[in-house]
Amino acid sequence: MAQLLWLASVLLLAASSVADAATANYTFTVASMRVNRLCNSTDIIAVNGQLPGPTIEVNDGDEVVVNVTNGSPYNLTIHWHGMLQLLTPWADGPSMVTQCPIQPNSSYAYRFNVTGQEGTLWWHAHSSFLRATVYGALIVKPRNGSAYPFPTPDQEVPLVLGEWWSQNVVDVEKDALMSGQLPSRSDAFTVNGLTGQLYPCANETFTVVVEPNTTVLLRVINAALNTHLFFKLAGHNFTVVAVDACYTANHTTDTLVLAPGNTVDALIFTGPKPAGSYYMAVQPHDTISPATMATSDDDSTATAILRYNGTSPTATPAMPAMPTSSDTSTANAFYFGLRGVKAFTAVPTKVDVNMTIELGLGQLPCDSAQTSCNGTAFAAAMNGVSFRLPTRVSLLEAQFKGKPAGVYTADFPDGPPGSGMAMVEGTKVRSLPYNSTVEIVLQNPTAVPAENHPIHLHGFNFFVLAQGLGTFTPGNASAYNLVDPVSRNTLAVPTGGWAVIRFVANNPGMWFFHCHLDAHVPMGLGMVFAVQNGTAPGSILPPPPADLPMC
Ligand code: C2O
Repeated sequence: MAQLLWLASVLLLAASSVADAATANYTFTVASMRVNRLCNSTDIIAVNGQLPGPTIEVNDGDEVVVNVTNGSPYNLTIHWHGMLQLLTPWADGPSMVTQCPIQPNSSYAYRFNVTGQEGTLWWHAHSSFLRATVYGALIVKPRNGSAYPFPTPDQEVPLVLGEWWSQNVVDVEKDALMSGQLPSRSDAFTVNGLTGQLYPCANETFTVVVEPNTTVLLRVINAALNTHLFFKLAGHNFTVVAVDACYTANHTTDTLVLAPGNTVDALIFTGPKPAGSYYMAVQPHDTISPATMATSDDDSTATAILRYNGTSPTATPAMPAMPTSSDTSTANAFYFGLRGVKAFTAVPTKVDVNMTIELGLGQLPCDSAQTSCNGTAFAAAMNGVSFRLPTRVSLLEAQFKGKPAGVYTADFPDGPPGSGMAMVEGTKVRSLPYNSTVEIVLQNPTAVPAENHPIHLHGFNFFVLAQGLGTFTPGNASAYNLVDPVSRNTLAVPTGGWAVIRFVANNPGMWFFHCHLDAHVPMGLGMVFAVQNGTAPGSILPPPPADLPMC
């Protein structure tokens, strides 16, 4: 009852404060910077000389303008991960999908509105491996005068989890592409850009000081390129209240798991005095089956510290007991246990477009540009199509001009290829009528080796209706949750399993749908939805902004 009253007051507040929208202006200057980690000095590309880059903090309803100047030697774009970009597809950011990259010494202003979203999102580079260090938090607070649908926290702490290479990441990617092999593994994990004191030469560990008997909101973001992460805090449980900036029913757990691209908003309730010092610990979750093929080692642990005010800074923090890296049952218990908030949930029941998308890894012959490739290269595909980005014109520009010829074809298949069919390369999109309801069965291969792919959809949140292990069968439809499914923008499709998602294509434009393991994107694990214009005002693709970068 209290919750209901509470909800009613939130809705009232939301209705009365529409006039408060503001414009939030940010300036991002991207450039090289030299930092010390792991006893090495490494050149990285960073925004405004910070790692993570600046936190963008806005209210729902605001307009956001981010002026990006590229002072790095590389082509670059920025993506606002999870932002719906309603009628602003030109600001979405994936290179060659919605724009040509910003070239060195050039600028582009990303302009978009926050439209009915609250919670934790993030931004990152969306061209090559640059997002290893070009990333930051994007926090959307409720409209002014409006409150969270949970007790107001006394303190809020963004925790951006990352992955660190001592080598230049652009070279790491280039080596992988040229050889057709997987990129080298990262050398460390980080919290807010710092490895924490369990790694060598860490003279700084990210530390939060809290008061006893308070509520703290942790905004946890997995910005790692290629690694699923477990996150624990010694001595405390989490109450998860949102994932991917979509509110959830309260979910209590002592372990968070985040696939690359995921965010989790979790409350912690601090205890009474005397308190102490506690590690927040980050370790890899290796999803590969069989586990003997695991590539991460268990004892690489990034840490941050949560310290109660009054506790000595030199006190040794308590360490949480971590799951083993291959502990899929802990990960699945977390993912499968999430529910949406019924009062905020309206699942469309009539489906217009049904698709099954099979995620596949395989091999293709080396191509001539792969100068250090030996016979075959690792490749990946959705429904047998290994996705290739166009090189001369972005997909969105070709769609806007009505000139797909030579850029893309609209023949992405609605189901997997017949068995034994060879993988093909192509720039194939699936055209979707405006406002159509789309349901997709995502099927991971059930044969080993297999791994969990975090599949991310640009431009939309989707409902997660069901997930399971093994092969999806039509009988699974009877178990769909149409009442309070969780919504998200990135879903970890279980190793050897499947998931069913549903969304409404209410935003014209070109929307990338891809694996958020960065290593798998250039291998082809993606496709694009081409959402058509509607007829009513507010349903038509707007023209590109004047400063849109040229190829
Ligand atoms: Cu967070 Cu297409 O990316």
